[in-house]
Amino acid sequence: MSTFSAFRYLVLVFLFCFYIRKIQSVEQNLSFEFGDFVKDSNFESKLSLFGDAKVVNGGIQMSGSVGFSAGRILNKTPFKVVERSPRKMVSFSMHFVFSLSRENGDGFTFMMVPIGYPFDVFDGGLFGLLGGRKMKFFAVEFDTFMDEKYGDLNGNHVGVDLSSFVSVKVSNVSDIKLGLLNSGEKLQSWIDYEASSKRLEIRLSKLGEIRPVDPLLSCPVDMSEMWKEDELFVGLSSSSGNSTQKCNIYSWNFKTRTTPQWMHSEPLDPQAFEVKKDEMKVQSRSDCALRILGALLLATGCGALGAFFVVIVWTILGSRRPVAPEDNPAVLEHKKEFDEYKKFIVVVDKAMEDGKGKN
Ligand SMILES: *[C@@H]1O[C@H](CO)[C@@H](O)[C@H](O)[C@H]1NC(C)=O
Ligand SMILES: *[C@@H]1O[C@H](CO)[C@@H](O)[C@H](O)[C@H]1NC(C)=O
Ligand SMILES: *[C@@H]1O[C@H](CO)[C@@H](O)[C@H](O)[C@H]1NC(C)=O
Repeated sequence: MSTFSAFRYLVLVFLFCFYIRKIQSVEQNLSFEFGDFVKDSNFESKLSLFGDAKVVNGGIQMSGSVGFSAGRILNKTPFKVVERSPRKMVSFSMHFVFSLSRENGDGFTFMMVPIGYPFDVFDGGLFGLLGGRKMKFFAVEFDTFMDEKYGDLNGNHVGVDLSSFVSVKVSNVSDIKLGLLNSGEKLQSWIDYEASSKRLEIRLSKLGEIRPVDPLLSCPVDMSEMWKEDELFVGLSSSSGNSTQKCNIYSWNFKTRTTPQWMHSEPLDPQAFEVKKDEMKVQSRSDCALRILGALLLATGCGALGAFFVVIVWTILGSRRPVAPEDNPAVLEHKKEFDEYKKFIVVVDKAMEDGKGKN
């Protein structure tokens, strides 16, 4: 009995500590929705503008006021594509409306960059991204300039860039009934990343049309491998090149969602345990003492409750015992054969049979 109690206490202490850890972990959750940057002037609570980006009539103009202009819109709070304790992977979906004027500027990108990326530095790189420095980035380019240096197929394509302007996957926008990216018309795009299948999908249509069923571009990307635990910012970024191509953004919605890691089989990351060890080390002693005290209190409470429950059940069953065996020889037979403990089970069986008989 004492071994059992000790075991029960241990289990309870473990569960309690697990519970505390769970409520301590921060729910990473990035979501914003700006349907109209001018009316919804509150956008600066979530987004920052850099470079030549500014609010103009009806939206944000990232670049194009003068030649060689560049600008960025970035969200203010970072997020991760992998969460630990509990381990989760983060998927995201976004929708935005944009227009590019007819000049032959670079076009623009949706970008993901880590903390430490110099947001307010522009070095003349394509799409307003840094070109001269080797910095990690993920980008979906909406490219309106055929740049042979980067193997561009034409001046009207969408591509996926992983830390390089040479895209890992491209789609020819001239292949769909849309016209040019830089027609000056308002277009809309959906970018979806599904963490469980590690798949990125990009859709494009004219404003007012429905979301296309088939993506314009679909490509496998392992964000958790690329970024691991990095804290990331998402943004839109453009440059006008040697032109005054205006890149305007009219609305932008972005939303993350998490998937538990166990839904996807992935080899265990030994580093995960190392970091956890370090986390444990830095927990202060008083914190730990408090937790143990709490666990003991909870365990004592649960133990008392459990004992109380057992006593009640025993009492109820015990009070029924005399009426049970009298008219049933089989039960009397059993009574002879089994010890006290077994008798209890028989009484329960009998009680259940009685209940059935009444129906
Ligand atoms: C995520 O953020 C949104 C908006 O800020 C909020 O309404 C929602 O409750 C959050 N969800 C979680 C799980 O924190
Ligand atoms: C892009 O698509 C257009 C229209 O289908 C076609 O004429 C053009 O050759 C394509 N470009 C490339 C590089 O495939
Ligand atoms: C920019 O374009 C103008 C006219 O098209 C040209 O004269 C000029 O040399 C270009 N500048 C650069 C730096 O490419």
